[in-house]
Amino acid sequence: MTARKKALITGVSGQDGSYLAELLLAKGYDVHGIVRRNSEFTSRRLDRILFHERFTTHYGDVVDTSSLHTLLARVGPSEIYHLAAQSHVAVSFSVPDYSAQVNALGTLRLLNAIREVDLKARFYQASTSELFGGLRGTEPQHEGTPLTPRSPYSTSKLFGYWTVRNYREAYGMHASNGILFNHESPRRGRNFVTKKITQAAARIARGEQEMLRLGNLDAVRDWGYAPEYVEAMWLILQRDVPCDLVIGTGTAYTIRQFAEMAFAVVGIELGWSGQGADERGRDRRTGAVRVAVDPVYFRPLETERLRADPRLAERTLGWRARTLAPALARLMVRYDIVHDEFGFPDLVDDADVARRMEGRT
Ligand code: NAP
Ligand code: GDD
Repeated sequence: MTARKKALITGVSGQDGSYLAELLLAKGYDVHGIVRRNSEFTSRRLDRILFHERFTTHYGDVVDTSSLHTLLARVGPSEIYHLAAQSHVAVSFSVPDYSAQVNALGTLRLLNAIREVDLKARFYQASTSELFGGLRGTEPQHEGTPLTPRSPYSTSKLFGYWTVRNYREAYGMHASNGILFNHESPRRGRNFVTKKITQAAARIARGEQEMLRLGNLDAVRDWGYAPEYVEAMWLILQRDVPCDLVIGTGTAYTIRQFAEMAFAVVGIELGWSGQGADERGRDRRTGAVRVAVDPVYFRPLETERLRADPRLAERTLGWRARTLAPALARLMVRYDIVHDEFGFPDLVDDADVARRMEGRT
């Protein structure tokens, strides 16, 4: 009998980690996840699988080298998905040193620990489209696009990206970079722009919030659906040859357009007036201001325009994004109408949505 595959996921309590753990359990893996100590349990995204017989969590931290050594030696995974990160770009301007400790040195520590315990594991690095910097005219970005990162988050991830390539070449490790464009879901953290918008649209429709304050409405993003992106992570590690691949939809919208799509789900058509910090989005029917720009959310430096050229991934993995931004906005708003917080299941049925919305739009 062949032994079951064993995977280790750092960042398992995050959006992607939770979907990836579910995917791997469904594929028959033993799944081990590293969680760090917080003042409150952060395992809500893991509620569905916490007591699964093939799922185990371990305390650890990517800034704690000894915990990584101990866990690698004890678990002995055949696949390692390194997703742990201080993943918020705006926050990285406030905590640049910490972001580098976690994102840059954390990756180095993990790769080095794998080498030192002489583990023959395949390694996936959560690299990011932020590496490209998003300057106008560089889109669609592909594997050969120059890397010009524009935040402490992105420079820390650049270090991780190159460390993976160096360890692959220097030591023959099966280490790959998935260069993923933005991917979202009902489980997205509430301080990322899509979730902030969809939750606000649902609350405004329920009469629980007046208005939404946002930053740069002109930024362009290529948004996909997180459960599909964790499939790409898995496919990358199933290849015999390690690689660096761009994963995205190939479509892109401004923040303004995403807000329009989300508010349309609750029957609010937004009309825009003003410019820059004075721009407002009003409900065309009532005239009520529903979106305002607040410069507090502007970043010291912005990644303006990201749109993927995912053709290489389509050819090499046979992977293609299936859920595009309009469908994504719809499924996220519908979820937020029913659950004001994380809750399960992710997808809701029409009757639930109708009950919640009755008389409220
Ligand atoms: P997320 O929801 O913010 O999750 C980050 C995870 O990392 C959480 O489980 C967090 O634990 C954990 N973590 C943070 N610092 C840690 C530390 N010092 N030691 C151990 N764990 C730590 O991020 P995500 O959206 O799932 O993204 C997953 C990865 O993909 C990240 O590396 C991110 O930078 C990258 N990425 C994301 C996207 C995207 O659009 N989502 C695109 C490209 C790349 P807590 O729960 O305790 O906070
Ligand atoms: N968070 C946030 N909040 N962003 C806003 C807001 C706001 O109120 N208003 C406008 N934005 C703009 C940001 O300036 C940015 O241009 C865009 O919306 C997207 O912001 P986020 O949703 O915070 O995501 P991100 O693109 O900065 O980073 C995410 O995607 C990266 C991949 O490209 C994160 O998941 C990163 O970890 C990931 O690497």
